[in-house]
Amino acid sequence: MEKLQAALEKARQTRAVRSSTVPTRQQLRITPATDADGAWQALAPADLDEAALSQHLIVTREAGAEATPFDILRTKALLQMRQNGWKRLAITSPMPNSGKTTVACNLTLALGRQRDLRSMLFDLDLRDPSVHEFLNIMPQHTIGEMLSGRVPFTEQGLRHGENVAISISNRAELDPTRLLLAEETAERLDEIEAVYKPDVMIFDLPSVLVNDDTRAFLKNVDCALIVIRAETTRHGQFDACEREIAEHTNVLGVVLNAYRQSDGNG
Ligand SMILES: Nc1ncnc2c1ncn2[C@@H]1O[C@H](COP(=O)(O)OP(=O)(O)O)[C@@H](O)[C@H]1O
Ligand SMILES: [Mg+2]
Repeated sequence: MEKLQAALEKARQTRAVRSSTVPTRQQLRITPATDADGAWQALAPADLDEAALSQHLIVTREAGAEATPFDILRTKALLQMRQNGWKRLAITSPMPNSGKTTVACNLTLALGRQRDLRSMLFDLDLRDPSVHEFLNIMPQHTIGEMLSGRVPFTEQGLRHGENVAISISNRAELDPTRLLLAEETAERLDEIEAVYKPDVMIFDLPSVLVNDDTRAFLKNVDCALIVIRAETTRHGQFDACEREIAEHTNVLGVVLNAYRQSDGNG
């Protein structure tokens, strides 16, 4: 654990230097403004299943003790993103099974309890999509069909409550890296941002050290959260992942998942 703490501290120090050199997405793209209310209402509602949520440790739909750590993460992330004018947040990790999807879903539903905010969750772990299982919802069309322009977002995206949109898939994409790198994917996301005017767009991405998918996509986000898992993420893996991400975007922070006190609680 001490090694991990030292790595986190080192990353914090280097991040301050690196983040000032990465241009923000706003400097690169301009999005036009349109009226959003009708567009949100037109999205098909998704009924979230309480049993599936709790089975997958999604605890933030209602306020409560279990939701508190994610509520704190939400507030910290929001403050930092607002300060910098950032809207798009990638969630990634060095290796799979770190808790990316768990964090992405909890953060999205915690944001959903902020009625004055509009939030969107995109499942871009295209080789191994799992948000549909965590939330137990079945999309009629895949996020890949939407990003490649075959289906409009209004038919593919789902709405939880009034202010959370969810864009997911229930099967793996055949050529995910191409899709994540494509200029049409970038354009589609710009259109969605222009029409739906979200405050936060969360992207559940693959792990950095297993393939090129996340690297291909990071140009489309403003910042990233790195999820590491206590006892399984190795110091070298975290270091390599953090360096890689910082070359492409701003590292918003690091989430230490499944950390337990030595007395076994928490
Ligand atoms: N803090 C935790 N405690 C126990 N199990 C967890 C925790 N976080 C995630 N898991 C479980 O670990 C598995 C992998 O988590 P997931 O969020 O799918 O990781 P990733 O998206 O990084 O592959 C899932 O079964 C999830 O329910
Ligand atoms: Mg996942």
